[in-house]
Amino acid sequence: MERRRFLSDIARYAALCAAAPNEWRITWRPRWVDDPFTLGVASGDPWSTGAVLWTRLAPKPFEPEGGMPGDRPAVDWEVASDDGFATVVRRGRYTAAPELGYSVHAEVEGLEPDRWYFYRFRSGDATSPVGRVRTTPAAGAVTPLRFGVASCQNYEQGLFTALDHLSRERCDLVTHLGDYIYERSGQDRDVRRHHGLEVRSLEDYRTRYAQYRLDPALQAAHAMCPWLVTWDDHEVDNNYAGEIGENQMESAEQMRARRAAGYQAWWEHQPVRVPRARSWADLDIRRTTDWGAMARFWMMDTRQYRDDQACGDGLREVPCGDWANPARSLLGRQQETWLADGLGASRAHWQVLGQQVMMGPYDDLSGPETRLHMDGWGGYPANRDRLLRTIAERAANRTVVLTGDIHSNWVNELRAGFDRPDHRVVAAEFVGTSIASGGDGGPQSPRLVAALAENPHIKWQSNRRGYLVCEVGTDAWTSEYREVAYVSRPGAPVETAARWRVERGKPGITRV
Ligand SMILES: [Fe+2]
Repeated sequence: MERRRFLSDIARYAALCAAAPNEWRITWRPRWVDDPFTLGVASGDPWSTGAVLWTRLAPKPFEPEGGMPGDRPAVDWEVASDDGFATVVRRGRYTAAPELGYSVHAEVEGLEPDRWYFYRFRSGDATSPVGRVRTTPAAGAVTPLRFGVASCQNYEQGLFTALDHLSRERCDLVTHLGDYIYERSGQDRDVRRHHGLEVRSLEDYRTRYAQYRLDPALQAAHAMCPWLVTWDDHEVDNNYAGEIGENQMESAEQMRARRAAGYQAWWEHQPVRVPRARSWADLDIRRTTDWGAMARFWMMDTRQYRDDQACGDGLREVPCGDWANPARSLLGRQQETWLADGLGASRAHWQVLGQQVMMGPYDDLSGPETRLHMDGWGGYPANRDRLLRTIAERAANRTVVLTGDIHSNWVNELRAGFDRPDHRVVAAEFVGTSIASGGDGGPQSPRLVAALAENPHIKWQSNRRGYLVCEVGTDAWTSEYREVAYVSRPGAPVETAARWRVERGKPGITRV
């Protein structure tokens, strides 16, 4: 039985790792000298009767293969209705494998809808910390939701104080919008954990994830509730586009090898389901999660399928070069169709787009010239306006776009296209600031204040670290901007900088 279950698990990875499960020797009762659960536990991608439970065995996280001896240890998982595990409702066994970084991705089925559970792992005589997971409401149920939004946690630039606060917010769910790790390294905040300037190989990326995953605040935030995770650029390479790296020094083949390493390590460290992909370099992470009939989350990928940035990656005056070419796409044609068809078909009260780069344009020059950030949606105006027109037709004023990437808070009213100023408002964009990237942050510069005055669709902006807490009801959505004043030293309290409200079916965002 155990062998059969193991084979069915591993058969699903067959396309991804050239493994020969028949020859595998499984260690049913491993003996651990050091705790193998140093990286904590996580749950994610919940559905109404289950969720993914994650851990990764790494007794010595900074040694090759996490200090694992090279065998295939059995890992048991348990789901209980109480935190003392008196009533275990589901249990199972997983086999960790070196080809997958000794990660565990148990897909638990058979739970009750709309319920909290507790879970843990055991291997030999080692027991993991306990995590909390909840299932989503059943299809058709209109159940309110409270969830957190996080992104951009550069370990060297600040402490994860915001995640520590987030772990106490009593959220049902957390969405993480990418830049979970940073591939480039300056001076680590903990010199003992310094591991080279830039990560490239699979082993490099694994070590970088381990460095981040050791953080107690990150572990606490994962243990609190299930997460929905997507990636941005730094999970592979700053500002990469498709198969084009930032510095364009690498061939497409080299970029594919780097993507394969970055994508595989991402999957190994996130509580996400078994992937559909021809190869790791093509890992397809686009997916939806339904919160009953209340909300459908669209977890998007704005890196893998995009055309290269026009006129370089930075701020450019427009028009320039290929900028306005309607053939250029940020999402890729397939993802555009997936989203357009899906928005038309979904009857959920709210459509939630979990994605990376800012959709509302920001012209940072006062006066008649326009200068935009080429890496964001402003650099892909034709694709942005196609998507906004689709939203106008299919889900007007019940679509909320959640964004990370730019290490600052923004509240943007999105119009049915930005090619003319008179289009109506059809969606709300809440850009969440970074957890740590950019350091302490501070007040707006006079230049920014002057430019914002000429961007009337931008309702608010702020430059501190933090996260969002969103409360979703049938008729209204509120986003609360939670900020910490510093991340350069521990102990910053959290405060609400602003609260914004969207009424379903009505255009516009109002401050509460
Ligand atoms: Fe970032």
